[in-house]
Amino acid sequence: TRVALVFGGRSTEHGISCVSAGSILSALSPDEYEVVPVGITRAGRWVLASADPAPLAIANRRLPEITAAAGSAVVLPTDPTANGLLVLDPTAGATALADVDVVFPVLHGAYGEDGTIQGLLEMAGIPYVGANVFASAAAMDKEFTKKLAAAEGIPVGPYAVLRAGASLSQADKERLGLPVFVKPSRAGSSHGITKVSDWAELDAAVATARQIDPKVLIEAAVVGREIECGVLEGEAGGAPEASLLAEIHVSDHEFYDFEAKYLDGSSSYDIPADLPLEVSRKVQEYACRTFTALDCAGLGRVDFFVTADHQIYLNEINTMPGFTPTSMFPLMWAATGLEYPKLVDRLIRTALR
Ligand code: DAL
Ligand code: MG
Repeated sequence: TRVALVFGGRSTEHGISCVSAGSILSALSPDEYEVVPVGITRAGRWVLASADPAPLAIANRRLPEITAAAGSAVVLPTDPTANGLLVLDPTAGATALADVDVVFPVLHGAYGEDGTIQGLLEMAGIPYVGANVFASAAAMDKEFTKKLAAAEGIPVGPYAVLRAGASLSQADKERLGLPVFVKPSRAGSSHGITKVSDWAELDAAVATARQIDPKVLIEAAVVGREIECGVLEGEAGGAPEASLLAEIHVSDHEFYDFEAKYLDGSSSYDIPADLPLEVSRKVQEYACRTFTALDCAGLGRVDFFVTADHQIYLNEINTMPGFTPTSMFPLMWAATGLEYPKLVDRLIRTALR
């Protein structure tokens, strides 16, 4: 099977995508897969990358980056009989990606996890791992995630949406109370998120979030434990399947921010999360229902808060969760009995079905 692994990209999660790709490259068996590694630079240029996973690791707290120097330009696909010939860089030296069977777009955030590359691949008629255009776009946007999930009866915490230029009304301040989390509506890996404990800090936090997305979410802070659940599309078209749950613990940080997630070792986890069985089952049920409510496919990681009295609130869903060595999605599935290479295998098989 010929797999194009597409990674990097224009989002703030460029480096994390490179680390995810390095882990996937290591996991794909050369007996079964011919991998075509396609990097997208921060500027949006597609290049044929090296298949060596070594440079795609975090070293000395530095995230890897794909640059134009990494390889030649890519044209996708090149089979003249294939649907939709997409010439992305017509310069001499462009490399052909003929007859790719499937694309694994391990892109996180904007221009990758948000329906954009999914649309490109739909137009070219190439199968791909993960959610379709609509589900990707809806899940990328925390406003629409909440609205669609809430309509299916999944509990979400109090929040307000600030569209470009808008500011938070006094009534919303009173309704939400302090502290609040200020988030770009479309972002990942905690980029652009600030915890605000004093309304005087709100404007600066909104400005920070708006550097990533003009639309900002203000969420009441839920005092609770951070619980995550992996979901896989059912085999042979069956119901989605939930993994064992993870609980995230963060020390020395106000919340599970970017540094704690990837850089300074200040987060740890329990898999399975230490919760009463009926609470775990409920979280798994909500995770699968959220996956279905948003019309997801392939995979998703659904994140929740669980309060001391076991109220469960949806935080968000990721349609292309991290695949790094410290990412919860593959760790949860490994604990559930699906080791990393088998997980990747299953995702590719599902995409080809
Ligand atoms: N957005 C990051 C990659 C995650 O959810 O794992
Ligand atoms: Mg995320």
